[in-house]
Amino acid sequence: LSLKAFNSFGVEAKSKYFVTIKSVEALREVLQNPEIQNENLLFLGGGSNILLTKDFDGCSIQLDLKGISEKKLDDNHVLVTANAGENWHQFVLYCLEKNYGGLENLSLIPGNVGTSPMQNIGAYGTEIKDIFESCDVLNLDTLEVETFDLEKCRFGYRDSIFKQEGKGKYVILNVTFRLTTHQHQIKTEYGAIKAELEKMNIENPSIQEVSKAVIAIRESKLPNPKEIGNAGSFFKNPTIPLSQFEILKDKFPNIQGYPNGDWVKVPAGWLIEQCGWKGKQIGNVATHHLQSLVIINKTGNATGEEIFNFSAEIINSVKEKFKIELEREVNIL
Ligand code: EPU
Repeated sequence: LSLKAFNSFGVEAKSKYFVTIKSVEALREVLQNPEIQNENLLFLGGGSNILLTKDFDGCSIQLDLKGISEKKLDDNHVLVTANAGENWHQFVLYCLEKNYGGLENLSLIPGNVGTSPMQNIGAYGTEIKDIFESCDVLNLDTLEVETFDLEKCRFGYRDSIFKQEGKGKYVILNVTFRLTTHQHQIKTEYGAIKAELEKMNIENPSIQEVSKAVIAIRESKLPNPKEIGNAGSFFKNPTIPLSQFEILKDKFPNIQGYPNGDWVKVPAGWLIEQCGWKGKQIGNVATHHLQSLVIINKTGNATGEEIFNFSAEIINSVKEKFKIELEREVNIL
């Protein structure tokens, strides 16, 4: 079966086996099937953070677990649980409709709820760790369901236990968020949101208005994966020692950085743009003309290998010019 429709880059790759599962029991059954037991497994969520560079010799499992439930916690909080196969943005809109606060800054992020903890998705001043309560996972060794709380997930910037020691060991089944019902914590410190709200003439925004601002920003800067294949930011923003940042600042006075103790986070998009990559196209692949951190399948005919090689060239030029090694954020297969 072709995986083209199951990855947001829209690259062609075939999988030996493919199944869609709609319940945890069905997932257990597949995993216990003797034909599958010795196969490599690929779990597919929204396919929005993966680059397939070759055919997959194994079984791809699309997690189509649906359903949302909630439990009142106290006067101002509710626990909302969404199953892994719910589309992320639809889930955010569902919560906004009910006036539940906490997810508004994360509007319009591609992908499914089940993959959100993997890389602790974040945007415009919020990360899911800020509102995360727990997630249920299937342990692939024992086939038992386990619950991971905030601490156990070890969230970091674009990082979690599921990308580290837990890699390949668990399947996330559902995620529970702790949201506000009345007194919402509006987060508008991020420059782009402030500017957008000003443009919209809104002084004391509601959570729905913050969401609208985020959607407007994303639509103006980021390509829609439905129209042009991409996986959002292709690289992480690198963190470098303050001493190195100061040396770079002498040489490149325009360099931006977000200091954190002895470390500084530098915007990868800026570094890539400075190396002349903004909007640059090679063959079927390019960077987005408004955001160099996003690699796009410009013609729709790119292969995964082509995209990978393109990203390797970017890494080389940034390393040469700035002595900074960019790390890919997208999972390479
Ligand atoms: N910049 C440039 N040139 C570019 C791109 C960016 O100079 O081509 C500069 C911008 O001018 C800005 C700075 O870099 O001053 C930061 O840019 P932006 O606000 O667009 O955010 P980012 O650091 O590039 C991160 C996330 C995004 C998230 C935004 C907003 C990572 C890897 N990416 O991007 O996440 O939406 O912040 O919070 O942390 C994603 O993960 O797929 C994603 C889109």
